[in-house]
Amino acid sequence: MSPVNDRDLDALDGLDPAAMRRQYRADGIDVTAIAADPMEQFARWFKEAAYAERQGALYEPNAMVVSTADAEGRPSSRTVLLKGYDERGFVFFTNYGSRKAQDIAANAHVSLLFPWHPMARQVIVGGAALRTGRDETAAYFRTRPHGSQLGAWASSQSSPISARDELERSYAELEARYPEGEQVPVPPHWGGFRVVPQSVEFWQGRENRLHDRLRYVRATGSDEWRVERLAP
Ligand SMILES: Cc1cc2nc3c(=O)[nH]c(=O)nc-3n(C[C@H](O)[C@H](O)[C@H](O)COP(=O)(O)O)c2cc1C
Repeated sequence: MSPVNDRDLDALDGLDPAAMRRQYRADGIDVTAIAADPMEQFARWFKEAAYAERQGALYEPNAMVVSTADAEGRPSSRTVLLKGYDERGFVFFTNYGSRKAQDIAANAHVSLLFPWHPMARQVIVGGAALRTGRDETAAYFRTRPHGSQLGAWASSQSSPISARDELERSYAELEARYPEGEQVPVPPHWGGFRVVPQSVEFWQGRENRLHDRLRYVRATGSDEWRVERLAP
């Protein structure tokens, strides 16, 4: 985004979200062509989202909103990046001391949402989050840029801090200890979660708000998926 000035923003005074209305596309989900397995269907849509990104139509197709709920059922949401997916589920990495990780420790049920708005699509996953193994975490950590590896050590994610200075001081100390080229150990408080899906909904916006919604549901303890159509 180019830098925005006050005049540009003044021109948007009186902006009314109620008047923001888009007509979605006519072509929907071809039910006869959908995959039997939701991860396969996800792979197709994810590729199409990545293609849209290449064309400049969408930004960060792997950004997803993770919603958790604490032991009292209080929900919270935040964006994270999908770092892998396969038949076992969807993987993201985070700080194990963070609010989301504390929620998951108390209640493993989570929801993921991929907001692919420029394609009038969203994918919503319901499932349980499990920590990835340390080997898997270490393998991913090694692929991160040096600065991000230090950042994972520098920040006690979700804890209040007095000022940004505190963060930058901590980063500078780490940088002196582990200069570029030096291997940074994997922080014990950092790692992955794999969300094992129980349901996966594919939503395609269509004309006149008659959207397509197809939800794959897995019966508990089974590998079988059934697909149901939901009213929009
Ligand atoms: C586009 C985007 C990508 C992000 N990716 C991650 C991520 O992969 N892992 C992560 O821990 N936080 C990520 N964040 C920051 C989180 O949204 C959030 O601020 C942080 O994880 C703390 O959340 P919590 O306090 O609810 O646990 C990302 C934020 C944005 C906007």
